[in-house]
Amino acid sequence: KKIKVGVVGYGTVGRGTVQTLISNATEIKRKTGLDVVVAGVADLHITDKNDLYLEQVPLKTTCADELIANPDIDIIIELIGGTGAAFDIISKALKNGKHVVTANKALLAMRGTELMALAHSMHRNLMFEASVGGGIPVLSVLQNDLAANHILKIEGIVNGTCNYILTRMEREKLPFETILADAQKLGYAEADPSGDVEGYDSVYKMIILAYLAYGKWVDVKDVERVGTQIGLAQIEAAHVAGQRIKLIGSVEKQGDDIFIAVKPKAVPLESVLAEVSGVFNGIEIVGDKVGSLFLQGQGAGSLATASAVCADILKIAGTLK
Ligand code: HSE
Repeated sequence: KKIKVGVVGYGTVGRGTVQTLISNATEIKRKTGLDVVVAGVADLHITDKNDLYLEQVPLKTTCADELIANPDIDIIIELIGGTGAAFDIISKALKNGKHVVTANKALLAMRGTELMALAHSMHRNLMFEASVGGGIPVLSVLQNDLAANHILKIEGIVNGTCNYILTRMEREKLPFETILADAQKLGYAEADPSGDVEGYDSVYKMIILAYLAYGKWVDVKDVERVGTQIGLAQIEAAHVAGQRIKLIGSVEKQGDDIFIAVKPKAVPLESVLAEVSGVFNGIEIVGDKVGSLFLQGQGAGSLATASAVCADILKIAGTLK
């Protein structure tokens, strides 16, 4: 059986996902025995878009509903971002019996409770590995591999854009705005990069990590948040003191209470977090049985994030074959 997917949103991650599924189809088949086919792509500006991979997709439309209503499509991949239309697309897809994969951290952090309940009531999967840590399979590790552990702590760098900016400011002494423009060109930043820089993107990701560790959605307004408006002088001063400034997210459980914080922190130069540079993310998870684990990889970008989207697609596809 061919497993057919419909991709909604042909931006940075949508493009990477279609490219990965098509260019690595033989590798995917060899490893999983699965034939995953991109049956359709929906994007409001589809007529302006073209490339080698999109050319091979049979159905191209401006209307997501066309994919959601298509009885041949098994899995809808929501990659438009934002919390408005994306919510409707995911809800409609689940109600229509589709499984859903998304990278939408803002939507999950704000309306995860509703969406997970809907997926549950429809007996469909809603998977979101790409929403945290770009290509790092951190959600899978928390959910599956560490399932036998009480999670004692999660701490790390979960925004590629901020880390890229802080790294280049320190190394090249360039101003914040110049590097942010590069991060946007490289497809690391969100459509509105203020969410990256002010720490909201990291807040959403830490909320998702906390949900997988503890089964509770923490409200965005209950997270302590400080953004990364850091100047070169602060970076220099930290360096002289043997430290490096990073935007650090943390989750800790004390009794029944979950505490999440996102703020710039000076970490010792010799620490693992100080070594996480550029667009990389690094996340430490401490479990009561396993002890401390550290996961590091590209936290943003088209193909790294697509790798995580595809991981979810293949997990779902494996249950459908
Ligand atoms: N804007 C995000 C980041 C993309 O820079 O980390 C990946 O979630």
